[in-house]
Amino acid sequence: MFSMLISIFVPQQIHDRVSCLGLSALNNVFLKKNYMSAAAKVYKRVTTNALIEMKASGTKISMLTAYDYSMAKAVDAANIDVILVGDSASNVMSGHETTLPITVDQMIYHASAVVNAVKRALVVVDLPFGSYQSDPKEALRSSIRIMKEAGAHAVKIEGGAEIKDSMLRILNAGIPVMGHLGLTPQSIYKFGTYTVRAREEAEAEKLLEDAKLLEQLGCFALVLEKIPAALAKKVAKAVQIPVIGIGAGGDVDGQVLVLHDMLGLTTEFSPRFLRRYMHLYDQMTTAIKQYVKDVKSNDFPNKDEQY
Ligand code: KIV
Repeated sequence: MFSMLISIFVPQQIHDRVSCLGLSALNNVFLKKNYMSAAAKVYKRVTTNALIEMKASGTKISMLTAYDYSMAKAVDAANIDVILVGDSASNVMSGHETTLPITVDQMIYHASAVVNAVKRALVVVDLPFGSYQSDPKEALRSSIRIMKEAGAHAVKIEGGAEIKDSMLRILNAGIPVMGHLGLTPQSIYKFGTYTVRAREEAEAEKLLEDAKLLEQLGCFALVLEKIPAALAKKVAKAVQIPVIGIGAGGDVDGQVLVLHDMLGLTTEFSPRFLRRYMHLYDQMTTAIKQYVKDVKSNDFPNKDEQY
């Protein structure tokens, strides 16, 4: 009853003032109410702040990759919160074995096609391998190109303390950054395998410290890839920014999958965390086989399909 009364009668400015005074119990009551209304909120455009609100209200964040106009249009129309133009384009779109070969120019090509399609989702673009690790100035230059030439809303970077300076340089320029820890595919030759990361205590501790550091630096969100669910849960509790998992269990703030994997367009691998919502590769080849048959048998085009 008390919380209902304050939440109805106390305006935002006073709420902010109370939280400055450190009255944490009262603050929690206010926050709960504030974000309860955010839970029902319909976002016309998803922003980085909207994602932070979603975490605070317990609203799960949905995220998928896309690399071209047509796919991004369908994903956006389905009300996805975040579209990631991932460097997985290197695998999915170009057939490379790893994400390492893709360039900034190629990322800009994919990202601008996605941005052209999107009306609602937040569009985050991966900084590709080699475009940010060597020095902070290069990291900033690559990020500015992606923001300016593709019209991206934010960039994503793999790594923790070791890329702190690059991360800071980008953030200081006013560019929102999403972090990425755990199985970071750009380091695949260091890891040697795509198996689950941070099972050992030392790596788990470093990951938790890195997550806190990324939050401190000013990242607006964090992807955790292929780590134990219990560790992901601990990280999500330890930071205020949204934690979006892929192969990191359900106790995080949102989920991301590679679009072509969840649609069943890729068929080469089936990790445990991947749920396939379609078997598009099979459906496409069935349809294409039918088309070939129709052409060969002179069934296509028929009289109604010509001028
Ligand atoms: O490039 C990508 O698709 C990614 C996701 C797997 C998170 O980084």
